[in-house]
Order: sequence, then C-alpha cells, then structure tokens
Amino acid sequence: MRILVTGGAGYVGSHAARLLNQSGHEVWVYDNLSQGHREAAIPGRLIVGELLDRKRLAELLREKRIEAVMHFAASALVGESVTNPAKYYQNNLVASLSLLDAMRDAGVSRIVFSSTTATYGAPRVVPITEDEPQQPINPYGFTKLAIERALSDYASAYGLAVAALRYFNAAGASPDGDLGEDHDPETHLIPLVLQVALGQREKIFIFGDDYPTPDGTCIRDYVHVDDLATAHLAALERLEPGQMMRLNLGTGRGHSVREVVDTCRRVTGHPIPAEVSERRPGDPPELVADASRAFQQLQWQPRYADLETIVETAWRWHASRPHGFQS
Ligand code: UFG
Repeated sequence: MRILVTGGAGYVGSHAARLLNQSGHEVWVYDNLSQGHREAAIPGRLIVGELLDRKRLAELLREKRIEAVMHFAASALVGESVTNPAKYYQNNLVASLSLLDAMRDAGVSRIVFSSTTATYGAPRVVPITEDEPQQPINPYGFTKLAIERALSDYASAYGLAVAALRYFNAAGASPDGDLGEDHDPETHLIPLVLQVALGQREKIFIFGDDYPTPDGTCIRDYVHVDDLATAHLAALERLEPGQMMRLNLGTGRGHSVREVVDTCRRVTGHPIPAEVSERRPGDPPELVADASRAFQQLQWQPRYADLETIVETAWRWHASRPHGFQS
C-alpha cells in the first residue's frame, strides 16, 4: 500500500514508518520537524510540511497516489496542554480536521490514528477496557477524544475506515539502537531515569508516594514502541470501509514508578539516586490496559512484554546516543 505517515519523524511515528517500509509498503513521511528529527525519517522519504496546509496536503495525496494515512503528528505534553490549550486545539484538533478534509478531497479513505489513554481520564476500573467511559481530565485528552469523535462520524457518513489506537505508555527503542526517544523537553519517566544513569541529571524525582497503590507511587502500563508499530500495521491491513476500530494498546501489566527506577538500576548497574517530591497535577494513580480486544481483532500480542527488556532497549539507545539524534 502507499501510505502517508504524519509525524513519521517523531518517536512512535518513526518506528511505525520503518516497520511499514520493511514490510514492503511505499511510505512517505510528512512532518513539520517541530518535534521530529530529520535523522529519524526514512531516508529520501521525508516531506517537510504542515497539516494545516490542506491544499498542499491534498495535492501530495493525489500526486503520490496515497491509499492510507497513519496519523501520529500531535502535541502530546499533558502539562503544557493545561497552560497552553490553544496550541493543543490547533495542533491536534484543527490540524487533524485539515488532514481529514485533504483526505476527502483526494479520495483517501483509510486512517490509523494515534489516540491515548488520556481520553479515559481517571478511570473507575482497572484494567481499562475500551468500554470505559471517556472522560478526559486535561486539554490534551479532550483534543484526542474530539478527533476520535470526528473520525467516528466521518466513518458513518463518508465510509472512512478508521482505527483509533489508544496507547498506554509508549517506551523503549528499536533493538538495533538506530531509533529511539528524543524529546525536548523530556518529560517521560524512563528517559529521565536513564539520563540520571548517564550522569546528565543528578537524581530522579518521584512525583508522589502517597497514591492508593502498593508502594504509593503511580502505576503505568509501559508498552514497547515496536509493538505499537506492529499493531498499526495489523490494524491497517484489516480495516474495512466504514469501520471504526477502537483498541487499547498496552501489555496488561502495571509497574509503579519505584519499580521502573529499580529496573533501570538493574539494567544500567548505576545507583540512580531518587527523591520523592510533590504529586504532579493530573496524574491518575493507575492506568493499565485490558488489551484483549486488540488480541481478538488483530491477533496482536506485545513481543516485549516485560519491563526489563523494554528498559534494556531504551538503555542501548540512550547509552549509544546520549544526546539523541544530535549525538
Ligand atoms: N514521573 C515521575 N517523575 C518524573 C516523570 C514522571 O515520578 O520525573 C511519573 C509520573 O508522575 C507518572 C509516571 O512517572 O506517574 C509516568 O509518567 P510519564 O510522564 O512518563 O507518562 P504519563 O503516564 O504521564 O504520560 C503518558 C503519555 C501521555 C499520555 C498520558 C496519559 O506519555 O502522552 O500517558 O495519562 F497522555
């Protein structure tokens, strides 16, 4: 298939683009490089551009005879979405609507969309199934939910084939060490802990140890970025016209912040000093996926199901590229 990957120079998008390319698809990466890295895109396949440039996007879809879109491009910092919601409504919601218009214009009728556990807010029941009510607690989650709603309406009205994949905590790096996580600023737990091991930070702050969890720290479901990529490919290949697939992508196993820090200590052999600090506003105590629907519908199962292996791949990346793609 000929596929346009928006945000294909970013963290999850670059891993997915590479897998699509290796699987024999013709891939074009569309990215404005605001957060993505030229080096992360498939060589010779990067087109630098804005999603809001609807006319150019429609022309490109026609010119490259694109058959499907994978839409990763987004702003994805929860805290920033609270202080600067305009950026999130613009970059996520308005830009996605522009992409959908361009797709309609060019007659492209398949899309796989990066949704998120943030659309569930603070869920009542864990593990979380797709039937859990979606009640976001921050603008980031609202923008992703609004896009899901638009996609669902477009599927019913225009026959668009849609997969909305709700990721839990994307983590790890490609095992060969060529691609990995490189955010500026970095806010995610595993890369920050590994920066301590590299001597780039003095210690890791644990945001709260008075949550209602066994060790008092927040529990998350860390899912390997290459497993997310595999699920994207499987979803794309199975989509039917007018279908709206909604799937959680996680391992079904939760790990506390303390467990993550301990795992990083084991993997790196570094003591990694840690200090408990205040809770970070908006952090739900526990987010763990019930991913059985992805297994039923896509026969998808994470290959990297244990945290230690996920951290090992991340460590290989960070140790060999201590300054990310600039190294
Ligand atoms: N944490 C710390 N110290 C840090 C950084 C994080 O203790 O320095 C904790 C957080 O409080 C949280 C856990 O580590 O409990 C994981 O935090 P991340 O920032 O790595 O990930 P989040 O769970 O906050 O975010 C992820 C995705 C978002 C998505 C969100 C939904 O990265 O895109 O889940 O809740 F929106």
